[in-house]
Amino acid sequence: MTLRSVLIGTGSALPKRVVSNAELAQTVDTSDEWIVERTGIRQRYIAGEGETTSTLATDAARRALAAAGLEPADIGLIVLATATPDQTFPATATQVQHALGCNGGIAFDVAAVCSGFLYAMGVADSLLRTGMAKRALVIGAETFSRILDWDDRTTCVLFGDGAGAVVLEAREVAEDGPGVLATRLHADGKHNGLLYVDGGPSSTGTVGHVRMKGPEVFRHAVVNLAEVLREVLADQGLTAADLDWVVPHQANQRILDATARKLGLPAEKVVVTVDQHANTSAASVPLALDTAVRDGRIKPGDLVMLEAMGGGFTWGASLIRV
Ligand code: UT7
Repeated sequence: MTLRSVLIGTGSALPKRVVSNAELAQTVDTSDEWIVERTGIRQRYIAGEGETTSTLATDAARRALAAAGLEPADIGLIVLATATPDQTFPATATQVQHALGCNGGIAFDVAAVCSGFLYAMGVADSLLRTGMAKRALVIGAETFSRILDWDDRTTCVLFGDGAGAVVLEAREVAEDGPGVLATRLHADGKHNGLLYVDGGPSSTGTVGHVRMKGPEVFRHAVVNLAEVLREVLADQGLTAADLDWVVPHQANQRILDATARKLGLPAEKVVVTVDQHANTSAASVPLALDTAVRDGRIKPGDLVMLEAMGGGFTWGASLIRV
């Protein structure tokens, strides 16, 4: 027997308003054809009045708790990944904790942008296995629409808002039983200038806007993701052929295709939601995971790889037996 963090529920939440490429093209110098061909994105959800990172996160968390058959009081740890917190401080996780009504446990945010959910999973898994808590909510939630420059067509068409959550529980399981099997996380700060926000409390005193050198980020993403996937598989003595599903960060359909090709993974094993959600940064992996769990693709016993890469650069992958 071995102590593992077992995935016992997933949930997600999206803003009410859907914005199609065609609608965007009315105000931005772009076209549905360009966006679909270069990214695979067809629409995104944009937060409206009253919808914030914490409200989306709370809705996703409630759905994950319901799926796990748990009450908020059962949760002793909330780790929330976001680059778009409601406030500079306190952590959005504490607002979610208060909204759920499970005050008293551990709650904090993790900042690793698009890889944030992988970082949050890694931290939560470690804390659960060292006995700091018995059950955790791990959440990725973003309102990137609030930090986009709507006059910059090279970035504003790419992102959307949303939240996804999972419940992890520390359990003694058999070696071939469920749980998080391996996680690898990386960062390389020298690439700050390729993907960043040009503001912040300590530098400009403003919130700032997303800036990205897209083609360069693209090249790094394919190389780094293929490497970290191989690293996690090697750690477990597995190959890509052993995987039932890959749930990647949803930035660009072409990145998903290129990474799958590099690893020899059939496209049918890759969960794709970028067409529906666009890039929701830290929310994209748990949103895609919840989608594939709820529509019955991901089933108990499946071997699932989560992976993401984003600003920092940061990147990582996590292998889970569901
Ligand atoms: O989540 C973190 C990770 N982020 C990513 O992984 C994003 C990675 N990068 C990408 O997904 C792609 O590089 C983009 C989707 C951002 C861009 O696609 P691309 O095929 O690399 O296009 P490009 O930047 O090389 O631009 C090609 C052309 C340019 O025009 P010229 O110079 O060839 O005349 C751009 O000005 O497309 C033009 N362009 C657009 N045209 C219509 C750029 N954005 C748009 C747009 N609509 N929205």
